[in-house]
Amino acid sequence: MKPSPNIIQGPEWEQREKIPVRVFPDAVQASKRVADQISDALRKSALERGSLVLGLATGSTPIGLYRELVRMHREEGLSFEHVTTFNLDEYFPISPTHPESYHTFMREHLFDHVDIREENIHIPDGSIDRSDAFAACAKYEQKIKDAGGIDLQILGIGRTGHVGFNEPGSTSDSLTRLVSLDRITRRDAARDFLGEPNVPRYAITMGLATILEAKDIVLMAWGDAKAVIVSRAVEGPVSETVAATFLQRHPNARLVVDRAAAADLTRFKHPWLTGSPEWTPPLTRSAVVWLSNTVGKPVLKLVDEEYGEHGMGGLLTENGPAYNLNIRVFNDLQHTITGWPGGKPEADDTSRPERASPYPKRVVIFSAEPQDDVLYMGGTLRRLVNQGHDVHVIYQTSGSLAVPDDDALKYAECFLGFSRSVVAASSDLQDHLARLTDDIFSKKPFDADSPAVRRLKAVVRRSEALAAARVCGVDAAHLSFLDLPFYETGRYRNFKLTDRDCDEIASILDAIRPHQIYAAGGLSDPNSVQAICFEAFRGGFRSLENSCDWVESCRVWLYRETQREWNPDEIDMAVPLSPDELAVKIKAIYQHQSQRHQVPSEAAGYREAWQQVESRNRQTANLYDGLGLAEYEAIEAFKRWK
Ligand code: F6R
Repeated sequence: MKPSPNIIQGPEWEQREKIPVRVFPDAVQASKRVADQISDALRKSALERGSLVLGLATGSTPIGLYRELVRMHREEGLSFEHVTTFNLDEYFPISPTHPESYHTFMREHLFDHVDIREENIHIPDGSIDRSDAFAACAKYEQKIKDAGGIDLQILGIGRTGHVGFNEPGSTSDSLTRLVSLDRITRRDAARDFLGEPNVPRYAITMGLATILEAKDIVLMAWGDAKAVIVSRAVEGPVSETVAATFLQRHPNARLVVDRAAAADLTRFKHPWLTGSPEWTPPLTRSAVVWLSNTVGKPVLKLVDEEYGEHGMGGLLTENGPAYNLNIRVFNDLQHTITGWPGGKPEADDTSRPERASPYPKRVVIFSAEPQDDVLYMGGTLRRLVNQGHDVHVIYQTSGSLAVPDDDALKYAECFLGFSRSVVAASSDLQDHLARLTDDIFSKKPFDADSPAVRRLKAVVRRSEALAAARVCGVDAAHLSFLDLPFYETGRYRNFKLTDRDCDEIASILDAIRPHQIYAAGGLSDPNSVQAICFEAFRGGFRSLENSCDWVESCRVWLYRETQREWNPDEIDMAVPLSPDELAVKIKAIYQHQSQRHQVPSEAAGYREAWQQVESRNRQTANLYDGLGLAEYEAIEAFKRWK
């Protein structure tokens, strides 16, 4: 039997992966494993020494771990009474009571819910005077030493490869200090801070030497946005440009990752380079596409020697010669392309991605936040409408948290101005609008929105969604705004899905009884709005499985809501867009004006959302072109959810 690629076995893995990596199917299971490890260490230390010193991280990554520790405390009596903690870092300058400070984060996610002693908690103080920073950092180092050093250090990893806030350029002998934050890091934090300008420019962080002194280190990473940096940290050369690579020199450092964050490790991405994999059809497709890209030739021109020279001799032996293999993969790829995402009526559909009948189809498109629909499948959406299908767009959350105050103010002033111009005397409406404008004016950057401001922000996003859907030809009566409760009652990073969310999805689905569903099914950070919305969809859909006959024949297509498109071996349907269709899609995205601020991109420099999806759609088209398939302007890709 062949070894499962999920298990590190044998010298090939070990040679490439310079830090042990444990891969779990998802972040929940992985977080539970790390929580078990902490609880084992706690019990062991209680017997041996009486106390345990933990190094802790903040951010999205450890949220599931802290949830599990809190659960273990409540349900299993896990005690933190003899635990001392040192947090990695804190923004600077920032008050400990600021909603985005790491002090607040730790209280909300862990300390307020367990029996840790106040005097055992240590977090760098971001509110000190700058001139005191040096002394405060030295004191922090001393406190760690006095506590006997860190027994177990928990880390996340930033897209720059930082651990703590040790940005590129940090040296391995660095200690706790004041640092300036990288632009990418500040942009990644922009959403939490409601805009990049609000993100502090500095932080106090433990140094790399401080971290590497820990006896045990566990670095956790989830979601495909971390895949590139995880592979660089694990397989790349040790270098100051990726701080996490220094973990390669630690005797007890390891990574715990989910499958999405592991995706760029060679054993998953190019397993034929590290051993003899089992040649499943998706792996074969992936390998042939890779070979075609690597040698720069279309699939149908690949020859036996090229397969042999690139570690794919086994594939040739099993499925060769090259000519047969090429044709098979070429046809496979060819069959993913369709201009008829809802199926081509009355056509032979044996090798088409979607069934011809019924026609027209009832189609549901889930959009986690307003804008996802047009951003990730605006071209396909328009085609479905133009081809006569009954298309419904369901906006799962109001998206109100993502509207900057400036935009809300602009709309409030616009409504107020308009109402004053049509109603001479003061009216209730004007008073209300005047109060709304005052609310926004008097709001400090991190005050929570008043209910009225939050409603205004939701209305802004609704009107933008309406305008964008109009560009794509969707009738306003076919748009539903669910304003799912998890989003309305939560904050970024604090969302909690409940049955109410899933029930709402189930009830609207059962009312429409769709033949086809599109949903965001990427492999993003499990705490993202999109990931939670997918869970809500999954919960709602599954709850109907046994009672509703339409569910069985309904096909679900996933678009990928992260910055990366599906890999070629994952694409089941590729919908080409003409230059005009791409232009219309961009016009639809433009309607989301409150979202026009720049968003992070993987490439250097930053681009607006429409620029990112435009280049992503063009890249997919170029990929197909390079493989020797038809040359299109752009392609939107989907994977079937089975
Ligand atoms: C936080 C910290 C950072 C984060 C990293 C990943 O204390 O030290 O290094 O671990 O920025 O952040 P998330 O988990 O939000 O992706």
